[in-house]
Amino acid sequence: MSVFQQHLASLVSSAFEKALASRTDDVQSLLPVNPQLQNSQHAHLQANAAMALAKRLKTNPRELANEVAATLGSETTFAKVEVAGPGFINLTLSDEFIGQQLGNLQTDEKLGVSATTSSTIVVDYSAPNVAKEMHVGHLRSTIIGDACVRLFEWQGHKVLRRNHIGDWGTPFGMLIEHLLDIGESQATEELSLGDLNTFYRAARQKFEADTSFQERARGRVVKLQSGDKETLRLWQLLIEQSQSYFVSVYKSMDVRLDGTEFYGESAYNDMLQPTLAELQEKGLIKASDGAECLYPDGFLNRDKQPLPLIVKKSDGGFGYAATDLAAIRNRINDLDADRILYVVGAPQKQHLDMVYEGARMAGWLKAPITAEHISFGSVLGTDGKMFKSRSGDTVKLAELLDEAIKRALAVIEEKNPDLSQQERLQVAESVGIGAVKYADLSSERTKDYVFDFEQMLALEGNTAPYLQYAHARIQSILRQADEAELGGQITPHHDSERALALQLLRFADVVREVTDTLLFHRLATWLYESASAYSSFYNNCPVLKAEDNETRRSRLALCQLTASALASGLGLLGIKAPDRM
Ligand code: ARG
Repeated sequence: MSVFQQHLASLVSSAFEKALASRTDDVQSLLPVNPQLQNSQHAHLQANAAMALAKRLKTNPRELANEVAATLGSETTFAKVEVAGPGFINLTLSDEFIGQQLGNLQTDEKLGVSATTSSTIVVDYSAPNVAKEMHVGHLRSTIIGDACVRLFEWQGHKVLRRNHIGDWGTPFGMLIEHLLDIGESQATEELSLGDLNTFYRAARQKFEADTSFQERARGRVVKLQSGDKETLRLWQLLIEQSQSYFVSVYKSMDVRLDGTEFYGESAYNDMLQPTLAELQEKGLIKASDGAECLYPDGFLNRDKQPLPLIVKKSDGGFGYAATDLAAIRNRINDLDADRILYVVGAPQKQHLDMVYEGARMAGWLKAPITAEHISFGSVLGTDGKMFKSRSGDTVKLAELLDEAIKRALAVIEEKNPDLSQQERLQVAESVGIGAVKYADLSSERTKDYVFDFEQMLALEGNTAPYLQYAHARIQSILRQADEAELGGQITPHHDSERALALQLLRFADVVREVTDTLLFHRLATWLYESASAYSSFYNNCPVLKAEDNETRRSRLALCQLTASALASGLGLLGIKAPDRM
């Protein structure tokens, strides 16, 4: 709860306690009183606790409510306290109290989000595969993961970013052989241009068509796993080229990934054997057809047979599941994680659930430590089918982002032809990338969402450009004021000022909710509601032409606070708020 909510809840609770004490000798059994504060159409808030409490005491709820209302009515916090219906207590906050609460936000760069004790949070996200084009699923993971990182870093937690790229395993046999076939310089060129699919597909095709190539590829896997120097050098080449391409995409996406957080599957190689040994020691490994398996409790296949996590394959190699077990062990035992987030698409739910259960059985994952699958749906095209390019290929991320920026540029050119060329390009980047991120984060994470350039770049509706424009408009008002007029006390007098103020005061509660659920669309909704509340304030209350200086200052300060709340909210989503648009 925000300080604001806490204050109100404790006022109402103590008023209830006082009223209860005069009715029973055993108040203790009724404590703590949950005031059941709710939003109301009739007032700023409604307290609904009277009905349930009166029932337990077998007393009249309306009388109880009246007594509570009388106590609350004498508080300066409230302008009006009224009882309605069977015992609803309608609370109207006083302008003085609202102004005071806003004052707390004005001096707090975290806008009322109180610093909690710092935890260590591991975020596993993005995770494309080496020598393979990033697809829109990786786009979602990157955007959502980045928002998680920003949200927790902003609150002062220790955040460990883990980019679990696919950089190990059998495909590298064929990839390295293909690299040798076309020569290092040609391979480097294709890969550094981000032409990953051409490279990957050519290797795949040969692997499928040519048995001698297949054999070479298999032999190469063995060499790779046994640590052959030359093979490792070639493998490293593939990794480096792909990584630098990924980093270039991250840079254009403006996410907090710069290459230092690559902990690919191969990073766990040295931990695989010890992980297996520990699982064996704990009696959790069973042999099955030559493979060493862990059977997590509660997972059955269609024939009701227990499902395995294959820790060591029958050919002696370790695979995806082994790596994830080693990784979770490392994150808990070595990194001291309190909370581990896996920002991975919905199809991997079962795999991850099995890994968590395995980690529980091994005794690594135990309360209060949590591992959470931050699942997300697919990206669909406007036709409602899986998002594909016109040729039916997977869409290249870099091209997608370029197109967003190009389209944003057209929007800005129309809206504000006065911006300098350079500023226009900068703003177009913020708007284009912002639009792509916001379209993702403003829709419910677990559902599929439709990727639609027109819709995401619209200046009306719940879009990034709308919010960015609202912010820029406020900034342009602030530019017309005197520096000395800014930052003063806010005292609301008009209903739309009060509504905007209360909306801003909810920020901390929304952030708390999003921190728990990682459902960022709730923050998006708050942003959209805030921009709408601002717009009705602006329509009803002249700012620069306010009736007197005091009102002008108060409104300018409210504008300022709104702008910083919008910028902070967008910032948590990884979206820039330019001052001009
Ligand atoms: N590289 C995988 C993919 O592209 C995602 C990895 C997710 N993270 C994990 N720890 N398994 O599907």
